[in-house]
Amino acid sequence: MAAKNSWWEGAVIYQLIPRSYSDGNGDGIGDLQGLSSRLSYLRWLGIEAIWLTPLYPSPLQDGGYDITDFKSIHPDLGDLAAFHRFLTAAHDQGMRVILDLVLNHTSHLHPWFQRARWAPKGSTERDVYVWSDDPNRYAKAPVLFRKFEASNWQWDEVAEQYYLHRFLRHQPDLNYENPWVQEQMLEVVDFWLERGVDGFRLDAVPFLFESEGTRCEGLPETHSFLKKVRKRVETNGRDVLLLAEAIQPVDEAAPYLADDELHGAFNFALTAHLFAAIASGNCKKLRLCLQDAQRVVPGCRWALPLRNHDELWLGDGHLVSEDVIQSIRSGLHEGHGHWLNWGINRRLAPLLNGDPRANRLLHALLYSLPGMPCLYYGDELGMGDWPGLRDRDPNRTPMAWTPARNGGFSSAPDPLLVLPAITAPGYDYRVVNVEVQKQLPGSLLNWHRRMLTCRRLLPALRRGDFQIIESAHPSVLIYSRSTSRMTVLIAANLSGAGASLRIDLSKWKGARTREVLWGCEYPVADDNWFIYLPSYGFSWWLIGEVEEEDVS
Ligand code: BGC
Repeated sequence: MAAKNSWWEGAVIYQLIPRSYSDGNGDGIGDLQGLSSRLSYLRWLGIEAIWLTPLYPSPLQDGGYDITDFKSIHPDLGDLAAFHRFLTAAHDQGMRVILDLVLNHTSHLHPWFQRARWAPKGSTERDVYVWSDDPNRYAKAPVLFRKFEASNWQWDEVAEQYYLHRFLRHQPDLNYENPWVQEQMLEVVDFWLERGVDGFRLDAVPFLFESEGTRCEGLPETHSFLKKVRKRVETNGRDVLLLAEAIQPVDEAAPYLADDELHGAFNFALTAHLFAAIASGNCKKLRLCLQDAQRVVPGCRWALPLRNHDELWLGDGHLVSEDVIQSIRSGLHEGHGHWLNWGINRRLAPLLNGDPRANRLLHALLYSLPGMPCLYYGDELGMGDWPGLRDRDPNRTPMAWTPARNGGFSSAPDPLLVLPAITAPGYDYRVVNVEVQKQLPGSLLNWHRRMLTCRRLLPALRRGDFQIIESAHPSVLIYSRSTSRMTVLIAANLSGAGASLRIDLSKWKGARTREVLWGCEYPVADDNWFIYLPSYGFSWWLIGEVEEEDVS
């Protein structure tokens, strides 16, 4: 069981890519020094935990998910001392830090792999990775990066065998049948725990073990190993979050959330359903997905992202049904083009045709549904992307801080930047940036800050029970979050057309009711409310009173 009131229950998580966030030494690449200087911004915004994509030494063939040393920092970003300074500063400002833990594979340049390929066939050194003489082994395991790879196997001329790579050929899979591998990776966990990190996002967890005749996903042996990770974390005695990245429907992701396994898991099916609902103006399937998720794992253990550093993963009909995928592809602005591997390779704002009302609506849901809302850096500004860049780089461009050169990300000359700053029409950093939006009271940035403030003041949104309320309108999702003292009622219109409807509120007859965002009293004359929600409109109503001791 999760410890009572663990820090991560309902915590607002901000995902950022250290290389793209803020450059402290002027070399064109974001680093820990730059990131440390931006902590006051994150605190001002209301962020509770920062998730950093991998910051370890890497040849960067997969954005740093191809690691050559799990216990060190990439020199572009700083060193262990800089990490210590960053972590201490984040803690001093009341924020937690979550690191990416990449268990499944290493870089092909990792010393373990170099040793393995030169070691004799069948030796313990060779056995650190998964080898085969036959590239048809595990034929049922899908190729994940199908835009870049045709097979899960790569011939190695030195080893004279094929090695397994569920991702790029530069990322050989570790062999978890080998106890030495298991112990090495547990020591990686120890290493970062001793340095004081507050959680791990466990990358690609389903793929640790293989078994012939299966998709090689979420096998019993994988769950047994994850339970060992949990035990190891518990011996450390601190309240540490283990968050699974398993791109699977909720009933398949739920086993990772067994009481003795991981604490949280991303709900990627919900992400797809949110986009499908806004693309089609119909929230029936979204409602079912929410009900399913709460049925299989009630409470706040689902992490809720809209976008992240990968494509908007929709899959092949396994995560969500084909008709859901089709409604996203045909209904979203950029739904047709920009397909990469298994989804749409664009940032949130362009997907929503730059419409801030849609950005607000989707985040208003994220901030009020049960779980850990995950905000992807730049989405608080409605930042754009650069579609022409390779792989998933369109979504990984520098954060826009000011209207100055390079969006204030770096003082380096443009050609030295890690990726180009956005100057695309409608998303130019001279307009879309933190400094400008801070000064405009009605900006998206100030709206996000205000919503997060409201969320902090309303404990029902963090830990309250969740209940869907019947809605007669196909576009309107209505639900409540309640503690013993208060209820927050949320209504959201996922359509581009206005919606009017009646809601039965007899349950709360006589209670004091206020609209949360504007603080106005909402006189309730009878049991039935007549409400009107404009296009992409939503409301949060507070029913009951906030007591001082409720506020988290
Ligand atoms: C990460 C990707 C990465 C892959 C391989 C994931 O699921 O989110 O960015 O390419 O794992 O490590």
